[in-house]
Amino acid sequence: MAANRSSFTGKIGFVLAAAGSAVGLGNIWRFPYLAAKYGGGIFLLIYLILALTFGFTLMVAETAIGRKTGLSAIGAFKSLDKRFSFMGYIVALVPAIILPYYSVIGGWVMKYLFGFVSGNASGMAGDGYFNSYIGSTVEPIGWFFLFIGLTALVVLLGVEKGIEKVSKIMMPVLVVLIIVISGYTIFTMDGAVDGVLYLITPDFSHFSVMTVVAALGQLFYSMSLAMGIMITFGSYMKKDISITKSAVQVGVFDSGVAFLAALMVIPAVFAFSGGDPNALQQGPGLMFVTLPKIFNTMPGGNIIGVVFFIMVFFAAITSSISLMETVVSIFHDKFKLNRKLCCLIVLGISLLLGIPSSLGYSAWGSFKILGMQILDFFDFASNNLLMPLIALVTSIFVGFVIKPKMIIEEVEITGEFKVKKFFSFIIKYVAPVFIVLILISSILNAFGVITI
Ligand code: TRP
Repeated sequence: MAANRSSFTGKIGFVLAAAGSAVGLGNIWRFPYLAAKYGGGIFLLIYLILALTFGFTLMVAETAIGRKTGLSAIGAFKSLDKRFSFMGYIVALVPAIILPYYSVIGGWVMKYLFGFVSGNASGMAGDGYFNSYIGSTVEPIGWFFLFIGLTALVVLLGVEKGIEKVSKIMMPVLVVLIIVISGYTIFTMDGAVDGVLYLITPDFSHFSVMTVVAALGQLFYSMSLAMGIMITFGSYMKKDISITKSAVQVGVFDSGVAFLAALMVIPAVFAFSGGDPNALQQGPGLMFVTLPKIFNTMPGGNIIGVVFFIMVFFAAITSSISLMETVVSIFHDKFKLNRKLCCLIVLGISLLLGIPSSLGYSAWGSFKILGMQILDFFDFASNNLLMPLIALVTSIFVGFVIKPKMIIEEVEITGEFKVKKFFSFIIKYVAPVFIVLILISSILNAFGVITI
């Protein structure tokens, strides 16, 4: 089967595709607000430790499973062990939950892009602009429709390759822009340096179990782990490419972009609010609140705002395309329906799930699930519940069912797996125990049994 599968071309094909899927709103929008909320330096430190241990291990395991079986997640688990067929369904749920609310945020990005294009930079920089915008009922839903509609159009027309090419060219420009914007903030604005210090100095008094829960969820989300994506990518990977090297490259690139984005957003919070704890707790709106303020003080800020939001738009839409693509192909394989029809069904479901996420900030603002706004709840359910659960089952599956040896052999096709002992130890013992603890505390916390 593996022989019939189309594969990534060239050495860099896998890394580019995996990095393309990895870098998105998770890095630019989600990482900075979580880092701000969960204690800055301590969040960063925990994130790094988790990336080097769990991130690396899971990335290698998933890629190797995909390459070995030549199948995507649903088929891969089933073909290795029938008892684990159920995993295919859980894995499929994650992108289906993420896509709608991801597109709501995509809509916010489009709104800001449009705002800069139409010359409303100073309006958007005003205090309270963002909250009153998402507090309006109709407009954010309109932008959400537009964003997910465009996503569906690309998937329907099958032109994602073209979009991906554009995005690959834009990605380096986006990284340069992020560096320029953070450099500008840090070097010219009073108080910004305190933000840098907040981000890089671990303050253990800010530590809580929720810091670890949030960092782990972010790691999975940002690197597109624990949702079957890397298994699918692995199935396209050629046998002569090193799995470990690729995993390291994707991980370093993804974390690098996330760190730079935090360096752009967090110092700005300090510059504009003096490090007010309430401003740091802003949550999902953080990037949209601080960036227009920076652009408003920057020479040429209008233009930079336009260029910046175009790039973010491309980073976001390539991710949403690949999310929708994943859900559509699962539907297609499972129900054997026409692909276009599947695409329309997925679009319909996403619209239904996305509208409440958007209304959660306006008309349905008082409706809370476990004390969370609707968008936050979807985010929590996928990143802090389902993904850790999938990671847990995956590590038990690799550690005790198919055995680490199978993964190690797949990795060693291209040469010695230098850290194989470390790999086996993490996947067999550390990951299961640790993730169970994390899951339990995350659930207890959500139900308000304990506050940690
Ligand atoms: N990793 C992406 C980001 O950081 C988001 C994402 C999650 C994703 N799952 C995905 C992208 C699946 C593509 C495919 O924004």
